[in-house]
Amino acid sequence: MRGKFITFEGIDGAGKSTHIAWVAEQLQTRLGDARRVVTTREPGGTTLGEDLRQILLHRKMHLETEALLMFAARREHLAEVIEPALARGDWVISDRFTDASFAYQGGGRGLARERLEALEQWVQGDLQPDLTLLFDVPLEVAAERLAGARAPDKFESESSAFFARTRQEYLRRAAEAPGRFRILDSTRPIADIQVELQEIIASL
Ligand code: ADP
Ligand code: TYD
Repeated sequence: MRGKFITFEGIDGAGKSTHIAWVAEQLQTRLGDARRVVTTREPGGTTLGEDLRQILLHRKMHLETEALLMFAARREHLAEVIEPALARGDWVISDRFTDASFAYQGGGRGLARERLEALEQWVQGDLQPDLTLLFDVPLEVAAERLAGARAPDKFESESSAFFARTRQEYLRRAAEAPGRFRILDSTRPIADIQVELQEIIASL
């Protein structure tokens, strides 16, 4: 039986990375020995993808180049990691996927949605995550969390207007596919969010 594909999304500082390892552990316990939980990320997840990640996070480029490289890394990720794992019956958890391209390159940078939809169709065909967890927080909360946490990369250095558009596009994508998305109020304490995550995991 094919495995399930779960993606984590949210603006930088929303708290998504905080929960990934914990969810993977919970899920692995639930699935037992027969199926593995593979945790991966975008951009990245393959040797080539991690090289592209370094370029994407640190080099300036035309916004279409940025979108094309995101989808190039994704093509490799699907072929090398995601598709084979799902076909084996393993489950895949990815720290970001295509919704991030719509949110950041589309919402944030203003790339036309039709361009992104064409790339999505080309690279994925009909494949979509079975579940997308959207960690949602107001920009001020995310910015405050990031301020003390780490040196900002290219995206994390963007303006609050950029992140307002990014968050808006995430919420639009969620409204467009309500069956796939779960929106988590990420302003709550970590323990409260874990309670909700546990319920979601139990329902899978
Ligand atoms: P993301 O992966 O979404 O960019 P992180 O998980 O790295 O965000 O979290 C950013 C910072 O915020 C970290 O320092 C983390 O400890 C803190 N953080 C995450 N979730 C919460 C929360 N619910 N309440 C308070 N602080 C949080
Ligand atoms: P992330 O791994 O969440 O960063 P960190 O490890 O620092 O928390 O994501 C890297 C950045 O890449 C993030 O700012 C969002 C951006 N990104 C896009 O702009 N488009 C995409 O398609 C993806 C997958 C990520």
